[in-house]
Amino acid sequence: MATNGELPIEPHKTFDTILVLDFGSQYSHLITRRMRELNVYCEMLPCTQNLAELSWKPKGIILSGGPYSVYWDDAPHVDPAVFELDVPILGICYGLQEIAWHFGKNVLAGEKREYGHAFLKVERHEGGSGSGHVDKLFQGLEDDMEVWMSHGDKLSNLPPSFVTIATTTNAPFAGMAHQEKPYYGIQFHPEVTHTPRGKHLLKNFAVEICKAKQDWTMGKFVDQEIARIKALVGEKGQVIGAVSGGVDSTVAAKLMQEAIGDRFHAVLVDNGVLRLNEAAQVKETLTEHLGINLTVVDASERFLGLLKGVTDDPEKKRKIIGNTFIEVFQEEAKKIAAAAAGSSKAGEIEWLLQGTLYPDVIESISFKGPSATIKTHHNVGGLLAGMHLKLIEPLRELFKDEVRELGTNLGIPEELVWRHPFPGPGIAIRILGEVTPEQVRIAREADHIFIEEIRAAGLYRKISQAFAALLPVKAVGVMGDKRVHNQVIALRAVETSDFMTADWYPFDGQFLKKVSRRIVNEVDGVCRVVYDITSKPPGTIEME
Ligand code: XMP
Repeated sequence: MATNGELPIEPHKTFDTILVLDFGSQYSHLITRRMRELNVYCEMLPCTQNLAELSWKPKGIILSGGPYSVYWDDAPHVDPAVFELDVPILGICYGLQEIAWHFGKNVLAGEKREYGHAFLKVERHEGGSGSGHVDKLFQGLEDDMEVWMSHGDKLSNLPPSFVTIATTTNAPFAGMAHQEKPYYGIQFHPEVTHTPRGKHLLKNFAVEICKAKQDWTMGKFVDQEIARIKALVGEKGQVIGAVSGGVDSTVAAKLMQEAIGDRFHAVLVDNGVLRLNEAAQVKETLTEHLGINLTVVDASERFLGLLKGVTDDPEKKRKIIGNTFIEVFQEEAKKIAAAAAGSSKAGEIEWLLQGTLYPDVIESISFKGPSATIKTHHNVGGLLAGMHLKLIEPLRELFKDEVRELGTNLGIPEELVWRHPFPGPGIAIRILGEVTPEQVRIAREADHIFIEEIRAAGLYRKISQAFAALLPVKAVGVMGDKRVHNQVIALRAVETSDFMTADWYPFDGQFLKKVSRRIVNEVDGVCRVVYDITSKPPGTIEME
């Protein structure tokens, strides 16, 4: 079973760190994002974190929002040691109630949910009644602010020793501060963009109140990560990892190459259902431009052979492709390991690279437990059981947009850094019906034209994901002087921020006309093109 490696160098030991204790709000990770945008390093841990187990001391703590009432029997609460740590604390929404509950217990009014925009009035205390810090949270901000509310409970009274620092029509204690200690609570969410001045408030907390240095940059992250990889892997250690040509695996691979050069072995499995010319392009970019030690395994015939005859079961296609991928990768890993073992200058392969991102980490360490829907296609590590590899995950502290920034820093071509996501089962789940070499050819060529036109129209970055799918029906058409009976291509293009919900992209008619004309003229076997105008939900992004 793969295990996580020890981390000899950790960012929170180098950078002043704000700790977010997460109560499960859908916005919690945004607090971390905003802090890093301010160049303040920030980490998130479950709200139930035992502080005695932390080997580092945060500069300040933020208690996030959450879907509970502090009065529920099963409501989560922070380790009381949080209030003994002698660092500033900011409670947001549920976090405010948690602070109030800690100091007063009997201070909440159960209310109907309040959700949406509200206008906040800031109350100043002219130097503060006590240590003079109470006004600092709203320092430099206007007296009237637009804020975003999303809460159930609200305060009915202030806990002892607190003063009001902000109100709204609905919430007389929308902001509070402790008179002696740097403890603050706010009922609204400063981390969402609907609170336009929220980032300034978070900066006041981190920089003015916690005195955190704004010294976290991507450049420093790269230096540190490379040092960390070197220390982990040692002088002779070898690492193996699968690459797909997507941004996460490419950025992770490039970091490894910078750290340990050819002792990192990248493997690209050509499963026969990649995009047009994709295996060759990925090979060229990774080897020639990025200098990565890459093996391309052409297993397309093996995959297509297994897919033969599978007509109407998308899950079966997924399983065949997923399992065969593991088999092929494992076979290749063993070959590379055997070669490494025979070489005098190299040690054994001990490590497996994975491009895990911070949202996956947050999900798996949530106090609610890992999600039931763990992405099995990412779970290559566990399946290489026989090799006893340890996991190395250099992107585990980063969000997707940070990975893109890092990729740009590392010199990865823009085209690759901004590539649309592509599913593991490739265009097999975009060919509705049996996947044959001929169907793959048609789907690939149509997809290539569609994406080429999207790029030419300058729309690629605006659209989150676009592709052509091949429908398993034939329609009549007239081409030249002949009637033909050919297949139908469905185009799909969506805009989304999280891929959980999505809207179809409103192309103009001229654009669609051009794409349709090109596909029908240039792709043999197609006589009709349709555009999918289904949102998600009820549709999904992929068609199978
Ligand atoms: P759906 O179709 O579920 O897609 O709306 C949401 C996102 O997930 C991708 N997707 C997959 N990715 N293996 C993957 O690696 C899969 O089996 C798979 N199915 C969907 C899809 O491309 C979209 O980005």
